[in-house]
Amino acid sequence: MIKNICCIGAGYVGGPTMTVMAYKCPEINITVVDLNKNRIAAWNSDNPHDIPIFEPGLAEIVMKVRGKNLFFSTDVESAIDKADMIFMSVNTPTKEYGKGKGMAADLKYIELCARQIAAVSKSDKIVVEKSTLPVRTAEAIRSILDNTGNHVKFQILSNPEFLAEGTAINDLLNPDRVLIGGLQTPEGKAAIEELTAIYAHWIPREKIIQTNVWSSELSKLTANAFLAQRISSINSLSALCEKTGADVTEIAKAIGSDSRIGNKFLTASVGFGGSCFQKDVLNLVYICKTLGLEEVAEYWDWVIKMNDYQKHRFADNIITTLYNTVSGKKIAFLGWAFKKNTNDTRETPAMYVADTLMNDLANISVFDPKVSPNQIFTDINHVNGKSDEENQKQLSFVSDPYEACQNAHAVVILTEWDMFKTLDWKRIHDGMMKPAFLFDGRNLLNAEDMTALDFHYKGIGK
Ligand code: NAD
Ligand code: UGA
Repeated sequence: MIKNICCIGAGYVGGPTMTVMAYKCPEINITVVDLNKNRIAAWNSDNPHDIPIFEPGLAEIVMKVRGKNLFFSTDVESAIDKADMIFMSVNTPTKEYGKGKGMAADLKYIELCARQIAAVSKSDKIVVEKSTLPVRTAEAIRSILDNTGNHVKFQILSNPEFLAEGTAINDLLNPDRVLIGGLQTPEGKAAIEELTAIYAHWIPREKIIQTNVWSSELSKLTANAFLAQRISSINSLSALCEKTGADVTEIAKAIGSDSRIGNKFLTASVGFGGSCFQKDVLNLVYICKTLGLEEVAEYWDWVIKMNDYQKHRFADNIITTLYNTVSGKKIAFLGWAFKKNTNDTRETPAMYVADTLMNDLANISVFDPKVSPNQIFTDINHVNGKSDEENQKQLSFVSDPYEACQNAHAVVILTEWDMFKTLDWKRIHDGMMKPAFLFDGRNLLNAEDMTALDFHYKGIGK
């Protein structure tokens, strides 16, 4: 019976996942640890608005269980020492140096975790891979854990997370499935059962899929690759729609009604963002390349190439439409987060569109209801390497959507926040330079309504 859990990594996955687990398993003590002191302090704040991750419903549950059976701490060692089960929920970004640069997953944080667990543990433990990892990572972790010489026995499980940001709490409370992979030995199977019993507190057993470790690791990369591929597929056709008079929304509806295809993940957009799709598909490509599967690697690489094409196509289209230059023109960005209902901006298409427009000397005014002003400068610096001072000459953040659009030559919707649907679009039009252009990177608004207001409206794939 598991009594004490430690989760290493208090990020977008570790924080919400453990919050829901603590809520559903009141008899288990869960400590979430992180090296980032500010992040832990924010998780411990008494003000729900300070919780470091914005997710609908998250702060309420944190307030219910924190201090009872859920704890946030920077004391990594003592949490590891006490735990019967340890989740590794650290970041696994794309490697930015050396071998595999720009493609492989950087496993240095995972390796560090494994070494810490090996160094500190005095009793047997189940170690759970929660982070998204390349297939066969459990082998490397095992070799680190099994060579400590302190006779502690470890079982390694793979339990990838499938939550999507913005809907994390609902995804965690009602997942389509939970996947648990482990060694097919008696000890491995017993460990799988221990973790299954935890999830069974709130998830029907038939939704808990048990596999071998390698299938579980590779299923996670495969799931993200398939989802990203659907978006790239519909986005590729959005370009064809724009040339032929077909409407990509009508096509998505027509094909999505076929139960074999299904209607989800068929929304054409400015491109997918987020911390995982690109990194996980690139990781898949890298694994295939290193195993000599060039054609397979190339096949998946096109999912990323198509996404890059879509972001550039969208930005180029703005410049072309605005008479081939945006120099000195004010462009309003509504939304910066990579999707609605999150404050996460990792790989947001907005920063790439901004970069292209700033290279053409546009002045961009950004409004986003959840993203902080500092974050947009961190993001644009990540793309163009320029200082905040330099970027501030062309990029500004305002806390009111109408102010962002005042005197703008064009408004660009980058995130599908619900609040944008109910803005007073007549008021926005009245305040803009004429002709007033509206580029809807999310097909959020009704084209006919906007045209009736005299906007020059351009959606995706229409
Ligand atoms: P994140 O960057 O938000 O959080 C990771 C945290 O781990 C950071 O706060 C970091 O300080 C901490 N950390 C790193 N090394 C540490 C160490 N040795 N000791 C203590 N703390 C350490 O990342 P995330 O978005 O939560 O993603 C974590 C993993 O989950 C990734 O592998 C990702 O691919 C996967 N994943 C993410 C999502 C998502 O929606 N973000 C969904 C499913 C899976
Ligand atoms: C995605 C997966 O959906 C999760 O299952 C997975 O756990 C997670 O990655 C991960 O491994 O990190 P997430 O990136 O949070 O979740 O959000 P999604 O809803 O998948 O959206 C990703 C991007 O695709 C967003 O920019 C979104 O706007 C875009 N998108 C999504 C589209 O352009 N069209 C669609 O039809 C759907």
